[in-house]
This record gives sequence, structure tokens and C-alpha cells, in this order.
Amino acid sequence: MVINMNYNHMEKVDHWNNVYAKKPGKNVGWYEENPTLSLEFIDACDLETDATIFVAGAGTTNLVPHLLKKGFKNIIANDISPIALETLASNLGPDAQKINFVVDDLTNPKALTEMDAVDLWVDRAVLHFFLEENEIAAYFNLLKDKVKVGGYVLIATFSKEGAKKCTGLPILPYSPEELQKWLGDDFSFLKNEYITHFMPSGDERPYHYGLYKRK
Ligand SMILES: C[S@@+](CC[C@H](N)C(=O)[O-])C[C@H]1O[C@@H](n2cnc3c(N)ncnc32)[C@H](O)[C@@H]1O
Repeated sequence: MVINMNYNHMEKVDHWNNVYAKKPGKNVGWYEENPTLSLEFIDACDLETDATIFVAGAGTTNLVPHLLKKGFKNIIANDISPIALETLASNLGPDAQKINFVVDDLTNPKALTEMDAVDLWVDRAVLHFFLEENEIAAYFNLLKDKVKVGGYVLIATFSKEGAKKCTGLPILPYSPEELQKWLGDDFSFLKNEYITHFMPSGDERPYHYGLYKRK
């Protein structure tokens, strides 16, 4: 096993472990009972149930049990926070055995570099936490290394007019043009949507969802 002991990395792990330890379950601002829009976009990909789906920065998302309900058999749930993935596993109960959990940093991947290629990469509310050019580049390098030709990428970030912080951390919002620029010419734009997510507090968080296909 490769363990990432870099200091900056450990700070990030502590931050997210604390978030999940202090605000369990439905209390996190990004909680969705039904990840309706993600599921709608995933349906549009028309994947076979043996397709490999990579959920980047999964946290405790209900997307994972919904994907299991749809019959998907090869789901990889990643997060930098072991507490997040332990909570997700405990929420899933016996179904947790069906998921491949990978604790790793998307901006400095170790275990993830060994992952097989995937048919779909899903990221909701993760990419926008990466502020440094080298972190963002590392994330997209991993994505480009792992998404199969003909595979899909669904990325949801805070939109440009949205909040500038989340969990006390600054975020970097994306326009569709900026996302396409990072993805490059190998990825075709399929569709996008702007939605407002309502936090448990009632506060609004405008998001942009973009779906792309690898040529
Ligand atoms: C706002 S939450 C979104 C969680 C989930 N995607 C959802 O929609 O419910 C951001 C997630 O990204 C994870 N995360 C933050 N930085 C990460 C990194 N460098 N590598 C992997 N996961 C990371 C956090 O631990 C957290 O679970």
C-alpha cells in the first residue's frame, strides 16, 4: 500500500475528516436525498450495467446506492477522507461489499494511478476545491488517463455566480468554457444544465453540470 504522508495532504485529510465527523449524514450542505440531475445525466449515457463508474470525491453521497439500485455492478467510490468512505460503507450496509472504495487524493494520486480505465467519471462538488494550477492539472491528467475512449465525464461545480466558499474553504467556480478548456479537444460536449441546490439551512447554491464524451 502507498501512503501519502505529504503535510499539505494531511491537512486536507484532517479538514474533510472533521467535516464528516462533525456534520454526519444529512447535515452537510451538499446533501441530496435523491441526486436527480446526476442520475438524469447518467441515464443519458445509456451505459451497460457492467460499465465501470468512478465516483470522485464521493463523500457519503446517495448517488452510490442509487447506482446500485439501477443495477450497476462496477462502482469505484473515492475520497480523500477515510471517515467519509467508512460512513458511506456503513450507510450501505451489506451492499458495501459491492463497492470498490479507494481513499486517495485526486490532486496527487497514488492508489488511483493503478485503477483500470473507467466508462464514466462522476464528480459533484469536488473539482472546485482545487485552487492551484498544478492540482487542477493533476486532476485532469488522472481523468484523461482513466476515462476510456467512448467513455463519459460528468462534472458538477459551483457556477460562476455562486458561493465563493464551502466548509470554510475557498472554491474556484467553472464556466462551461473553462471546463472544456481543461478537458481539451479529446472530449465532446454533450449537454449541461444550471441548477440551484438548496442546503439544509435553506441557503441557495447555484451549480453547473456538464456532460462530456471522450472521442
Ligand atoms: C462538497 S463534498 C461533495 C461530496 C459528494 N461528491 C456529493 O456530491 O455528495 C466534497 C468531497 O470531496 C472530497 N475531497 C476533497 N478534496 C479531495 C481530494 N483532493 N481528493 C479526493 N477527494 C477529495 C471531500 O472529502 C468531500 O467528500
